Amino acid sequence: MTWESYNAILQEEVFPYLKDEKGIKTMQKVVRSFRKCYDVDNDIDVSYQGDLERKAYFLTYFPAHARQMQINLSFINNHISRLITPRGFLKASFFACGPGSEFYGFISFLQKEKLFPELDVHFIDREVGWKPYIIEQLKRLENRGYKTISRNYQDCFHQCTIEQCGLCKADCKVFIGSPQLVVMQNVINEKTFSREKFINSIDKLLAKLKTGSILVFSETLYHSNKEFLEEVFAILQNSFKAKGLTAGCQPRYSYVDYDYLPETLRVLNGESGLIRKTRVNSYFLALQK
Ligand SMILES: C[S@@+](CC[C@H](N)C(=O)[O-])C[C@H]1O[C@@H](n2cnc3c(N)ncnc32)[C@H](O)[C@@H]1O
Repeated sequence: MTWESYNAILQEEVFPYLKDEKGIKTMQKVVRSFRKCYDVDNDIDVSYQGDLERKAYFLTYFPAHARQMQINLSFINNHISRLITPRGFLKASFFACGPGSEFYGFISFLQKEKLFPELDVHFIDREVGWKPYIIEQLKRLENRGYKTISRNYQDCFHQCTIEQCGLCKADCKVFIGSPQLVVMQNVINEKTFSREKFINSIDKLLAKLKTGSILVFSETLYHSNKEFLEEVFAILQNSFKAKGLTAGCQPRYSYVDYDYLPETLRVLNGESGLIRKTRVNSYFLALQK
């Protein structure tokens, strides 16, 4: 994986914060609170509202989450290549995108498969603070060999919740032309994501997609959320079956190795008490309309 846009954002946004011990210590505090939420609590309630929280998340989780998506998409590589139109076009939407980890993984997957469609990509997250991270990646997309149909990257990020999404105006860019691929990574577990409305939201979303479109769900697996995710994935599969939709792949587990930059290791150093994670486990489901 080439990490050009990741490294560039780190240089501009994150490393200046790590220039002294005080900055590092504060960053460590945030990473510790993330760990507590992700590893211990069954229900994840993390705030990404603060600038520092977003920096810490980007520094420590982005690379593994990018790989998580790259690896998971490789399970359905034949399906993805078939989504590209005969004119070489692919529309994809990333829900609860955060800093765009899964987008980075998606582009890395396409590069590895030597697929170079013209892209129409849209991003949805309830936190507008992620927008600059997405725009920075879009600006550097050409360096990775990709063209986008959008000349205005500002229009590609939509501050919106998943629950609101199916209710949007008819002219919402996320749905015009219908995305062939919709990706949701690491959001099902979030407390902010209302469970009651979850299937309802997916149903509304489905109604807006063309036959053949693929919905991808990819979640980091912790000991505390395995049962919950298995239950949610089963509900999703059953709801598809009930509609007469049978295609897609069975849920899969995968391991993704962490690979730390020296700067990240300065944050996760021995004295901080933060154990370096070596791998992330993930759980993946793809459903085709
Ligand atoms: C753990 S982060 C995942 C970010 C990215 N997808 C990844 O895999 O690294 C969860 C993201 O979901 C967003 N989020 C949480 N609840 C949401 C909701 N109901 N609708 C839209 N976004 C939501 C948060 O703001 C955050 O950016």
